[in-house]
Amino acid sequence: MRITPNTDVCGIVLHPVGHTRSPAMHNAAFAALGIDAVYAAFDVPPERLGDAVRGARALGIRQLAVSIPHKVAVMEHLDEVDATARQIGAVNTVTRQGDRLIGSNTDWIGAIQALERERKLAGTRAVVLGAGGAARALVYGLVERGAEVVILNRTPARAQRLAEEFSAAGYGALSTLGDHPCDVLVNTTSVGLRSDESPVDPAALPKTALVMDSVYDPIETRLLRDAKQRGAQTLSGKWMLVYQAAEQIRLWTNREASVDILSQAFDAAK
Ligand code: ATR
Repeated sequence: MRITPNTDVCGIVLHPVGHTRSPAMHNAAFAALGIDAVYAAFDVPPERLGDAVRGARALGIRQLAVSIPHKVAVMEHLDEVDATARQIGAVNTVTRQGDRLIGSNTDWIGAIQALERERKLAGTRAVVLGAGGAARALVYGLVERGAEVVILNRTPARAQRLAEEFSAAGYGALSTLGDHPCDVLVNTTSVGLRSDESPVDPAALPKTALVMDSVYDPIETRLLRDAKQRGAQTLSGKWMLVYQAAEQIRLWTNREASVDILSQAFDAAK
């Protein structure tokens, strides 16, 4: 692409910068939509986050994706955090509107749209594994769509607090999965990330459910492999990332990014 004085700058702040596929995905979508913008990755340690946001303001950066470990801390540096992001308690997207920086959360809608491609969520029985930050976005979205949500976590007290906060239907330990019949199962724990482990016993996996893993490295986790072997339908966490990226582009430009292009760019960036 040709960078001109009018080219807008967007990016992602995270630490450590590691391997993020967001620049590849967003730049591909910008090119396909003919949007004159570039998207870069910025390695920002926690103690520099305030400086980074002030810098983004001064430089007129149009949109910043916010990743680990900044999703909570970034909120105090913004002019406004929308109601949904406040309820989830995390911001993964900062969009400039005029001189104001507005925080939102597209993680929840990304996950929900990925699931909705396969299943209607209203009235479904959903189990969320984990009770951390990623679980909050999922539980918010599933409850918002009218699913009956049970939260299972290694530390059940954390699952209980989350269940109470979001009016979920139940909670428990990961080992109780077999006691909760479900149509949709989503892993939000970090188990399986760059390791061949699953958070749950394969024998407890539901045979007819849609199983999604928010871990996408490796692309097919142990959990997804186990679920497939049980006959369940599986969905890679890649789709959560793809749909949340499309939502970020919509927030900034009001344009519809192609899911296929985002997906191809994700694959090519490995
Ligand atoms: P995130 O914001 O990515 O969700 P987090 O808030 O640190 O990160 O939450 C991590 C989640 O993974 C938690 O649900 C955690 O369980 P605990 O609440 O019991 O800590 C879960 N988790 C991490 N390592 C785990 C492991 N080895 N076995 C089971 N669950 C694990």
